Amino acid sequence: MKVVQTKEEVRAWRRASDQPLGLIPTMGFLHEGHLSLVRRARDDCARTAASIFVNPAQFGSEEDLETYPRDLPRDLGLLEAEGVDLVWTPTQEEMYGDEFQTWVTVESVAQPLEGAERPGHFRGVATVVSKLFHVFEPQRAYFGQKDAQQAVVLSRMTRDLDFSVEIVVCPTAREADGLAMSSRNTYLGADERRAAPVLYRALQGASKAYEGGMREADGLRLLMYETLLAEPLVKTQYVSVANPETLEEQFGVVERALVSLAVFLGKTRLIDNVVLGGGLLA
Ligand code: PAJ
Repeated sequence: MKVVQTKEEVRAWRRASDQPLGLIPTMGFLHEGHLSLVRRARDDCARTAASIFVNPAQFGSEEDLETYPRDLPRDLGLLEAEGVDLVWTPTQEEMYGDEFQTWVTVESVAQPLEGAERPGHFRGVATVVSKLFHVFEPQRAYFGQKDAQQAVVLSRMTRDLDFSVEIVVCPTAREADGLAMSSRNTYLGADERRAAPVLYRALQGASKAYEGGMREADGLRLLMYETLLAEPLVKTQYVSVANPETLEEQFGVVERALVSLAVFLGKTRLIDNVVLGGGLLA
């Protein structure tokens, strides 16, 4: 496995072969969720590359950029064991240089949910991912449903800006108790970790009700609120039943929905989602 730091090295490697490339963008501190994307890419593509870059542009000033967990040697060991061909670990300087002033802004699908709670977040994500697409020119790029809105925003960007890359969205990898894997789970204290499966329990409650015939968006939201309220350590930020393509909040009867939530457990912010009734992310 080749590990490189400059764009020029990535481009030189890319020019050396025209075999189809699958790209897995990450911020590192890898877990089974990331590795499931790597395995899917390895199955689909002759060559695979990953990037590891904790992207300052997608963190708000009050967020966890400074404390975001990092362990590059461990990450490289995991990627090597999965048979990844190249890893790009740019510095901030290499990625943005100085006086960076060009941004990619996706509009309506980036506005609700995470976009509303984390102003500027998707501008940072869309900008860095479009830079990754330009540097790697991958045939396919792999993203997790765990960050469902991110996948929707990046699919929109790819179509709107004519990137010739196929966006592949992979299922959410979970711990045995249902907690969605996340680099941020390492922030959780023991009591918080014990409480954390309530996110998935709330989503599963909505899924079961949906399967039992419940179609009222308010009813589904209420069920989730009630489950979350029963866990005193959880502070709910939002609970949403949204259109899976437009991400607009739905009211009345729903046939298909992206059901998502964001909560604080102490200082740690966690998100999770499921799709009801099939759709882009199912
Ligand atoms: P990061 O949080 O490191 O996640 C990298 C990729 O792994 C994303 O596509 C994310 O959705 C996916 N992922 C995370 N947890 C997962 C899980 N439990 N199951 C399946 N996939 C999971 O998302 C980012 O980084 C950044 O925003 C990035 C796209 C790299 C741009 O900076």
